[in-house]
Amino acid sequence: MGTIVPGSDLVGREDIIRSLVNRLQRGENLILASPRRTGKTSVAMEILARLQAGGTMTVYLDFFRYAAPEGFALAFTSEVLKNDRILARGLRWVAQQLPVLSEIKTDFGEAVSLAVELQQKRQLSLDAVLDLGEALARRRQRHLVVVLDEFQDAGKFGADVYRTFRSFFQHHQNSTYLFLGSRKGLLEALFIRENEPFFRFASLEALPPVPALVWEGYLRRKLQLAGVTVNKNFARHMAEAAGGHPGDLMHLGNAVMDVWNGELDTGTLLDAAYQLTMSRLTPTFGEMWRLLASHPGAQVVARRVATGDPLYGKSGRKPSSFQVTRAVHFLAEEGILEKVARGHYAFGEKMFADYIRDLEH
Ligand SMILES: Nc1ncnc2c1ncn2[C@@H]1O[C@H](COP(=O)(O)OP(=O)(O)OP(=O)(O)O)[C@@H](O)[C@H]1O
Ligand SMILES: [Mg+2]
Repeated sequence: MGTIVPGSDLVGREDIIRSLVNRLQRGENLILASPRRTGKTSVAMEILARLQAGGTMTVYLDFFRYAAPEGFALAFTSEVLKNDRILARGLRWVAQQLPVLSEIKTDFGEAVSLAVELQQKRQLSLDAVLDLGEALARRRQRHLVVVLDEFQDAGKFGADVYRTFRSFFQHHQNSTYLFLGSRKGLLEALFIRENEPFFRFASLEALPPVPALVWEGYLRRKLQLAGVTVNKNFARHMAEAAGGHPGDLMHLGNAVMDVWNGELDTGTLLDAAYQLTMSRLTPTFGEMWRLLASHPGAQVVARRVATGDPLYGKSGRKPSSFQVTRAVHFLAEEGILEKVARGHYAFGEKMFADYIRDLEH
């Protein structure tokens, strides 16, 4: 995973940040589905910072981090409590006084019952905590925005977990939800398939590509600060070499600074920086490539798309056309391939396609 970029360093995202802040403030639930390292989490963090500054309560949780629902429930509770220092202090006090207090119903009703559950079971269940933020928002007459990152991974908590979440969220009047995910197709399917519990719960949003001109200006300024003067053409070639992928382009920018020695001509500089970037990304790409091995035909199909070969091979050869269709579907679900036209797919991340093309076969 990349480092989260502070708002001031986020390139070309001001419009989308503003629009999402407004829509969340109006209470619209949203889904932001976009491939790996395109900047979802950085954008979400900036959105939350702006909402907080405006007095909104916020919660951020990444499903990637929790192996079991109990861990998630505990983290959810502590994120909610971060919004209210007095309640958080009250809860700590309640926990200390538990033997005496557990039978008393006070204004801190939720806090007491949570503390009791924690004390008795040493863990919290999802059911016990999912209304907590909403209850606090209602009590304090504030709005709560909850960001659930890599939401498609919540499925690891069990098949019914989405039904559980929906059964709580749908009653929340003071809470608004922003769902993020890099396994684009999988995340979207949760909200657009009629038989899924989250059908029509939120509107789909994409992270738009950053325009080439915006990258050019940013890269030239950033490199200039490091004493590397490059012209527009060079900056444009950089953006092209990284396929406009935000994470990869940032790596490439760093690599240009690392290989720069004041003497290289621009062609050699870009080649060397590209090679260095590729070697730094190789562990990530290797992991992604191994993931594809788990699905029949996915590596073959990925290679065909990367090399521009026809998707479907000769009849009678493996993978069968059925397997190819399934593999394309899988690659789109994982957010690796995007449909560009009917029957045509492309990699969301150019450098991953380059990596695959250069693998020894
Ligand atoms: N608009 C941008 N401006 C500058 N850097 C960016 C931008 N978008 C992404 N990055 C770079 O990409 C890296 C990944 O960003 P971030 O973690 O926000 O993306 P993500 O989509 O949440 O990734 P992941 O799929 O790993 O969760 C950051 O460390 C940063 O270097
Ligand atoms: Mg992320």
